[in-house]
Amino acid sequence: MSIPRGSTFLLSLVVVVGCSDNTGPGEGFPDPRPFTPDTEGLRPFPEFPDNPLTREGVALGRRLFHDPILSLDHTQSCASCHDQAHAFSDPRRFSEGVDGSLGTRNAPALANAAWLREFFWAGRAPSLEDQAREPVPNPIEMALPWDEAIPRLTAHAEYPELFGRAFGTIEIDEDRVVKAIAQFERTLISNHSRYDRHLRGELELTTAESRGERLFFNETGECFHCHGTLFFTDEEYHDNGLDLAPVDPGRQAVTGREPDHGKFRTPTLRNIEHTAPYMHDGRFDTLEQVMDHYSSGVQPSPNLDAVLRVHGPPGLSLTEPEKADLIAFLKTLSDLEFLENPDFGPE
Ligand code: HEC
Ligand code: HEC
Repeated sequence: MSIPRGSTFLLSLVVVVGCSDNTGPGEGFPDPRPFTPDTEGLRPFPEFPDNPLTREGVALGRRLFHDPILSLDHTQSCASCHDQAHAFSDPRRFSEGVDGSLGTRNAPALANAAWLREFFWAGRAPSLEDQAREPVPNPIEMALPWDEAIPRLTAHAEYPELFGRAFGTIEIDEDRVVKAIAQFERTLISNHSRYDRHLRGELELTTAESRGERLFFNETGECFHCHGTLFFTDEEYHDNGLDLAPVDPGRQAVTGREPDHGKFRTPTLRNIEHTAPYMHDGRFDTLEQVMDHYSSGVQPSPNLDAVLRVHGPPGLSLTEPEKADLIAFLKTLSDLEFLENPDFGPE
């Protein structure tokens, strides 16, 4: 335990909290209470031995995720580019950083990220903790160096106590900040879409939706090869033929391997109706455009995926009714409980 000398505020804080009868290790804070999210219909919640979910940790992460205190000029939070109404994606093609500068990729939706192995479009971060280290100091995002972020949080009227409750110590550091944010992100679970409820026998799909479901999972649509499982991603990297000569190296930037050029991690399709624009560079505004791409726009790029090669180029040659049915099915993945859950918003 270390308390900065001369800080009467912090000392009195510890004394007050120390009066609680259920005192835990560290600075007299009660032990944080374990938190078990609802994962009905999905795989069991993974274990995170280095950062187990607690009510206090999740609450702190939620607050940090929505707080512009982590950006240089106090204008931007994680939620500025990961908006709950858009399933935590950004409706702008390229997100704007604090100084107005633009990135080159569209902010992906966040849902069921607890189960993912790698993060970012090209998978360069191996955990949500590692991912969260990047946007804060990134000059085209929040642009606040960590060695300025930590004193800001430490000087704040409430954060030291919130860290105390979550981690047993009022000492704030980068690790604890990213741990709390990762805990919150892992609670962003989408499992109440119409499709989930259909699988639980709670409702019937319409005939168009059922036709779309069959196309999605059969060799006419081929979608399931990459967007399979209830997470709607195989978590692998593919080139789905957007460009003959992809400009963004994608996965190659991480592995250095030529066969990975132009490949991106298959994105989840959960809440896809609400996460436009689409693809790593947000090039498509509508699901109709996405269907036209898979049907007749697939480019014979050097690393085009074998599944899409079988049908072309130019693509899967879907009929107009098939495209409409696929879109009807994709819209069954919208989860209004997720988009409106007050536990995910700002306090
Ligand atoms: C200025 C906009 C912006 C801000 C602010 C921002 N992000 Fe992002 N985020 C993005 C973009 C763009 C990407 C995709 C970048 C890439 O893949 O190269 C991304 C990717 C991610 C991913 C990876 C998702 C996946 O499926 O792989 C996570 C998780 C994430 N951000 C969380 C956060 C957190 C936590 C914060 C706040 C600490 C934050 N973001 C702040 C724009 C932003
Ligand atoms: C070979 C693997 C593969 C197949 C087959 C495939 N996809 Fe994809 N899909 C991807 C990848 C990879 C991306 C991201 C590509 C990028 O951004 O560069 C993607 C992106 C998308 C997106 C945009 C998601 C977003 O968040 O921006 C939608 C929608 C989509 N696919 C739907 C489908 C549908 C519907 C089918 C079947 C007709 C299908 N995909 C078949 C791999 C595949």
